[in-house]
Amino acid sequence: MKRIVLCVVGAALGAASAASLSAQVEPLPLWAWARSTQPQPGDKAAPQAAPNRNLRPNENPQEQTRPRTVQGSAASYSLVDVRDGHNVIDWFPGDHPAMPPIIKNGPASLGETARGCGSCHLPNGKGRPENAPVAGQPAAYFVQQLRDFAAGRRLSSDPRKPNTPTMAMLAKAMSEEEMRQAAEYFAAVKWTPWITVKEAELIPEMELEDGNMYITHGKEPTEKLAGRIVETPEDAFQANGVRNPRSGWIAYVPVGSVARGKRLVEAGEVMADGRPVRKTIACVTCHGADMNGAGEFPAIGSRSPSYMMRQLYDFKTGRRNGTFAAIMQPVVANLTNDEMRDIVAYLASIKPAAPAPQTASAR
Ligand code: HEC
Ligand code: HEC
Repeated sequence: MKRIVLCVVGAALGAASAASLSAQVEPLPLWAWARSTQPQPGDKAAPQAAPNRNLRPNENPQEQTRPRTVQGSAASYSLVDVRDGHNVIDWFPGDHPAMPPIIKNGPASLGETARGCGSCHLPNGKGRPENAPVAGQPAAYFVQQLRDFAAGRRLSSDPRKPNTPTMAMLAKAMSEEEMRQAAEYFAAVKWTPWITVKEAELIPEMELEDGNMYITHGKEPTEKLAGRIVETPEDAFQANGVRNPRSGWIAYVPVGSVARGKRLVEAGEVMADGRPVRKTIACVTCHGADMNGAGEFPAIGSRSPSYMMRQLYDFKTGRRNGTFAAIMQPVVANLTNDEMRDIVAYLASIKPAAPAPQTASAR
């Protein structure tokens, strides 16, 4: 991987220095963090404890402990089971290989307080917008990210984001063998799309679970999208209440963003005054023809646009600064927040190529 990368980066640096102006780092795109305010100096989040089974003072014991079911699953779990971070529930065991203890229970070195990887990333590795879609990522890439988290080289540009330090704490606690097992487990789960991208001016009224996600209760479209991407569960109770890992998501994106993003991803260009202007390196050089990864390069297509936006912005601010982050820095150097938004809108809309051989007209 290193040789390809060095030569591509050389070409990219040439392009970047030729560009007249390097786009400055703009304020945090709040929508990608599901936040309503900018972070303030001194803000900091501590790693979170695993959510436990104890009933909370405001909870109705009957509601919390009665068994629930989801369509297509033979299992039944209570809401207490659903939140138990140390014993990850599994609605659809047939959708993935058998979960090793690291996925179900978390790093052994943390004992009873450990949180299984599946509690945030879900047993099928789909992840949710506030964490990361890990299914189908190359094992070598996956392990490298764990090392980067453990070394303090993957931080979030919003220092209030609590699950990033939690992720780092878990990575630090993992043994080499647990890293290998987790990487091989998620690499073996085939990625299938579960996000529907919709271009819109108006969206249903959203409720913000601050720092976590946008939720809607099926209201009429009355809220202005206003340049954001808003990613929300198709069914809030299925996705969030019982963590049904098959329940999909909708990503509302600005009108025209998908076509602009496609041009940036495929040709590295934007149109200005009717002519193309080069802004970045075509992603296909490294991320594979359908953006579904290639060799040790990660898959970025048909996955959470909020997550991908945070990563692009984190590469740009340098808060994500792992061993191979320098390869992505020239890619984002000249991109504005709106251009990165267009890119992730398009990326989320891509469907992985069918297993049949690809023809030129299929793309
Ligand atoms: C508390 C929720 C949580 C748990 C539990 C969790 N993660 Fe994560 N994970 C995250 C978040 C949040 C991110 C993205 C952090 C960021 O980039 O700001 C992440 C990112 C990752 C990534 C990087 C993905 C990529 O595409 O670069 C890997 C790999 C990963 N996690 C593996 C694991 C493993 C292995 C475990 C189990 C030991 C685990 N995670 C448990 C929250 C969690
Ligand atoms: C020269 C090769 C190269 C090119 C070109 C490239 N990337 Fe990357 N990309 C990488 C590498 C390597 C990583 C992993 C970096 C790391 O380990 O921190 C990465 C990581 C990423 C990630 C984070 C993925 C995750 O799961 O966290 C995103 C998002 C991304 N690239 C988007 C893009 C986009 C969008 C483009 C085109 C505009 C692009 N990349 C072009 C090599 C490249």
